[in-house]
Amino acid sequence: EKGGYEHFMLKEIFEQPKSILDTMRGRLLVNEGIIKMAGIWDHLERINKAERIVIIACGTSWHAGLIGEYLIEEFARIPVEVEYASEFRYRNPIIGPKDVVIAISQSGETADTMAAIKLAKEKGAFVYGICNVVDSSIARVTDAGSYTHAGPEIGVASTKAFTAQLTILSLIALKLGKHNGNLGNAEFMSLIAELDAIPTKVEEVLQSSHEVAKNIAKQYVDATNFLYLGRGYNFPSALEGALKLKEISYIHAEGYPAAEMKHGPIALIDENMPIVIIAPKQGHYDKIVSNVQEIKARKGQVIAVVNKGDVQVASMADHVIEMPETSECFSPIVAAIPLQLLSYYIAVYRGANVDQPRNLAKSVTVE
Ligand code: F6R
Repeated sequence: EKGGYEHFMLKEIFEQPKSILDTMRGRLLVNEGIIKMAGIWDHLERINKAERIVIIACGTSWHAGLIGEYLIEEFARIPVEVEYASEFRYRNPIIGPKDVVIAISQSGETADTMAAIKLAKEKGAFVYGICNVVDSSIARVTDAGSYTHAGPEIGVASTKAFTAQLTILSLIALKLGKHNGNLGNAEFMSLIAELDAIPTKVEEVLQSSHEVAKNIAKQYVDATNFLYLGRGYNFPSALEGALKLKEISYIHAEGYPAAEMKHGPIALIDENMPIVIIAPKQGHYDKIVSNVQEIKARKGQVIAVVNKGDVQVASMADHVIEMPETSECFSPIVAAIPLQLLSYYIAVYRGANVDQPRNLAKSVTVE
């Protein structure tokens, strides 16, 4: 059932071209130039008139939510806040009938997310669910929603569910922007064509980065700390990269927006600190170049995730992982792949139980 792969996690990493395509199927109709999503269409007025969208989730789903904030604010121009469900539910949040809540959960059973949804509904908010498990508790309790069609995710560390969540959030942001007039037709058409190409680019990066990530992993099995840095859309990618490494390899890792480095974490940098930098061409590239210079001046070990053919960052980095170029807003989907592979192989070389890391459960039904 692992399809010839050693672990479910690796199988699920490699399933992503298909799971992303499955999530888009019937929704992204490039030739017709439309995005079809019944859940959004049926409540378009309510969602587009929202004074604010609040995204609630936990863990990896919360990271997807952060990228959702960038997407929705950029394309639909609706203010978005992203909250940990566990914080939201206990802080007497200001939430009411003019707000729309988007709850994201792979399992659809996370206790904190469920409680946050119930609270938001009590206060009159409209709640939209993004779940992977069909007919799960969260899918049933929400007012409307869209399923990610990633298929069953068995590995405890979330991989294909995350990229499917990003796919849905991209579709929602583009659809809302198109209908509320914030996204012009030409831009909409070019973005959906780019989104349509993502499964192919994910396949490409799987092929091109697999051995590379494995080789780099071998050299960092004894690391005790890692930093992950990214900017803009890839700041949440850095958080997710760090979480993946922590949970399966038990190596301490932190993700930061690259510009925050100088406000503290830079003090940690020396020749023993590996730093993963996500540096696609589109998205504050020049700023990232300066961040890499600052790290190299302190002898940090740089593992750079860059676009194919990159020279500037690549020439300074100790290790380079290439990925195909895409729009900045979709780059977290592509960048997720090499980060998943890197964590996976570091954990495998450390002899860790990748599919069932200690202390973790696939679905967190207690708070
Ligand atoms: C990380 C991971 C967890 C979950 C979190 C939320 O790899 O799997 O952080 O993302 O427990 O779970 P769901 O999405 O099922 O609500």
